[in-house]
Amino acid sequence: MSQVPMVTLSHGTAMPRVGLGTSPMNDADAERAVSTALELGYRLIDTAENYRNEVGVGRALKHAPRDEVFVTSKFNKRWHSVDGARQAFEASAEKLGVEYLDLLLIHWPNPEQDRYVEAWQGLIALREAGLVRAIGTSNFKPTHLQRLIDETGVAPEVNQVQLSPVWTKTSERAFHQRHGIVTEAWSPLGKGTDLLSHPTVQEIAKAHGRSAGQVVLRWETQQDVVPIPKSADRERLAQNLAVFDFDLTDGELASLAALDGTGRPAADSDHAGH
Ligand SMILES: NC(=O)c1ccc[n+]([C@@H]2O[C@H](COP(=O)([O-])OP(=O)(O)OC[C@H]3O[C@@H](n4cnc5c(N)ncnc54)[C@H](OP(=O)(O)O)[C@@H]3O)[C@@H](O)[C@H]2O)c1
Repeated sequence: MSQVPMVTLSHGTAMPRVGLGTSPMNDADAERAVSTALELGYRLIDTAENYRNEVGVGRALKHAPRDEVFVTSKFNKRWHSVDGARQAFEASAEKLGVEYLDLLLIHWPNPEQDRYVEAWQGLIALREAGLVRAIGTSNFKPTHLQRLIDETGVAPEVNQVQLSPVWTKTSERAFHQRHGIVTEAWSPLGKGTDLLSHPTVQEIAKAHGRSAGQVVLRWETQQDVVPIPKSADRERLAQNLAVFDFDLTDGELASLAALDGTGRPAADSDHAGH
């Protein structure tokens, strides 16, 4: 079984550098995929209240020692308050059948609702209470992150954003780095775009004897981004984990980054979100 390399988050928790995404999967699909993933050596599993599969994920988690798996969940905008964050944690922990979460994220900032700072204060309290080991955000832009930092003095440990060679988010990543925030990538394979069949990706894949998916995930991991590709297929699950035993050249990294903006526009979290 492969050992996944780890990154240490700003508050000291170690997080695997690649994980499994579980959306869209129902409880039964999630149970199957997470069980296979754990068998293959995955140690980071990403779910959310919104995916409605925490029960299925939790069933699969029973197959591994709790302290060996890094479990992430996220909560929706109706829980954007201090008490709400606690209730959201309790609901997710119960469905997952766990006593604590490794990482809990505010799923979307929903700036029109304007209560994400309160949600953040709730997460800080959960971390202080030892109920979550690490806290973070998802789909937060630098302006949203800056507000959290200004109003609470505490930066998220992780920000999970839509990122791949078609959405490189270069300035966001630089902001994250300045504030010690680890960037996690959703849709890391460019779901909904032609990224994997793009000639640039295909050519690099051929040169390394790897799949297109592995090349794209290596582009991310080589730049300290943590991808959470979704797969329900055993072979692709195995491929997506095996991305640390080859290196792309600086030229290859740059040609992949040049695909920025070639897909459909990324989700705009000033307006989208639940
Ligand atoms: N925070 C957020 O707002 C947010 C939003 C969306 C998603 N997410 C998270 O991010 C995860 C991943 O994002 P995503 O599912 O949108 O996109 P993705 O991981 O970029 O792409 C998933 C798709 O690629 C296929 N695939 C997987 N591995 C492959 C490979 N090696 N070669 C070719 N195709 C491959 C999968 O099909 P098979 O299953 O058939 O392999 C699936 O159709 C989600 O599952 C979820 O956990 C978070």
